[in-house]
Amino acid sequence: MAKLVLDVNGAKHKIDRNIYGHFAEHLGRCIYEGFWVGEDSPIPNENGIRKDVVGALKKIRVPVLRWPGGCFADEYHWKDGVGPREKRPKRINNHWGGVIENNHFGTHEYFELCRQLGAEPYICGNVGSGTVWEMQQWVEYITFPGDSEMANWRRENGREEPWRLKYFGIGNENWNCGGKMRAEYYADLYRQYQNFVRNYGDNEIFRIACGPRNDDYHWTEVLMSRATQMRGMQMMDGLALHYYTVPGEKQDSAVHFDESDWHRTMRLALFMEELIIKHSRIMDKYDPEKRVALIVDEWGTWFGVEPGTEPGFLYQQNTLRDALVAGLTLNIFNNYCERVKMANIAQIVNVLQALILTRGPEMIVTPTYHVFDLYQVHQDATLIPTELTCESYVVEDAAIPELNASASVGPGGSVNITLCNLNPHKELLVSAVLDGFAVKEVASRVLTSANMNDHNTFEQPDVVRPRALDSISLKENHLSITLPPKSVALVTVR
Ligand code: AHR
Repeated sequence: MAKLVLDVNGAKHKIDRNIYGHFAEHLGRCIYEGFWVGEDSPIPNENGIRKDVVGALKKIRVPVLRWPGGCFADEYHWKDGVGPREKRPKRINNHWGGVIENNHFGTHEYFELCRQLGAEPYICGNVGSGTVWEMQQWVEYITFPGDSEMANWRRENGREEPWRLKYFGIGNENWNCGGKMRAEYYADLYRQYQNFVRNYGDNEIFRIACGPRNDDYHWTEVLMSRATQMRGMQMMDGLALHYYTVPGEKQDSAVHFDESDWHRTMRLALFMEELIIKHSRIMDKYDPEKRVALIVDEWGTWFGVEPGTEPGFLYQQNTLRDALVAGLTLNIFNNYCERVKMANIAQIVNVLQALILTRGPEMIVTPTYHVFDLYQVHQDATLIPTELTCESYVVEDAAIPELNASASVGPGGSVNITLCNLNPHKELLVSAVLDGFAVKEVASRVLTSANMNDHNTFEQPDVVRPRALDSISLKENHLSITLPPKSVALVTVR
């Protein structure tokens, strides 16, 4: 039996809705086909952006969308992607399959996509191969309301008013694909580039620095000590951590795996908690007031590509295992929401741990999509501190807690608890006590399936989908929940 105690009266910190954020890169079929089909496509679209994908994503409320990369960002020259489409230059997408990028999806198309989704834009600028001047002009083009060369060019290209742009990343993975830099060198470049990312009119930019890879604590130490403030002026608002769950050197099949792979995947995904704790400890040293947010702007599973697909396109299937990774990771982000203010799963459509897969005009949603759907109740809710005791799930002498949870109270006063039973064999009885809450009503949904590797296909799109969970009983403020093996559940209490 597992026990979960919720201190409802102790709820204090907001779970920023941006923790439920996404990432779309010019990679494989994410932007092209995944979103952009062009105005003349037979696939139903609005201004060139496919309606089915946007429709599905609106249901789960996409708070923020990071673009254009990823590694692509540090080779992207934004001027290539504005003006008449037929005149835009063709470039090589060096990172992702060496395919030709026709630049038909650029700044205007991206803001149109964000408008259709109702998502906040988050642009990642080019430090690796772009200039300070180019970055400064991009921000001017997007946000300047007055009579300047860039603002007038934007008008010529069809957009009179400036857009609102809050989130701006200064480079991506500059320790590797973004320039193979040392932390010390990047910290200096960060200081320089951020200086020219200006606030125009009433637009205020939240500047995000390239942060560490995994457990590179030195990177965090250097960035936090050298690039956050100068003479009391804040230079950095966010530091971006990247961590992927990679059980087998990026080669393992997303679909064919055994219990040992399942367990290793969960173990690696749970490592996110240690990373957040340790990076936060360094951040606390230099920023005790928590003015700099930890932004986990790339996370998710990374398996081998689907057989027969281009290796550089990173197209992988998505099973119940991915759903558990999503569920437990989002619980971790919720539980550390005092420092973690945004996270962006990689990636939203057709790439890595995707929420949506397309095949030409067809579209399906994945188990990961369903987790984001269940968890959307946490967006902007207030985190409830919880205390969890449970048994271990042990495979080959490695032990992990079999239950993972988080809870929040929403604006209407209802309490939402999200639970992951990581054990694929054991039904888990969870005893949840809601201290300081008079329970009247309970509703619940669960995502599970017969097999660990069950997934949705274009032929069978509904193999893994949520259903009602009836195995809950209520006595005063005490819930007894029976969680099926390998499941993600949402329990709502009013
Ligand atoms: O998401 C795929 C790639 O993973 C991104 O382009 C890069 O930032 C990371 O290494």
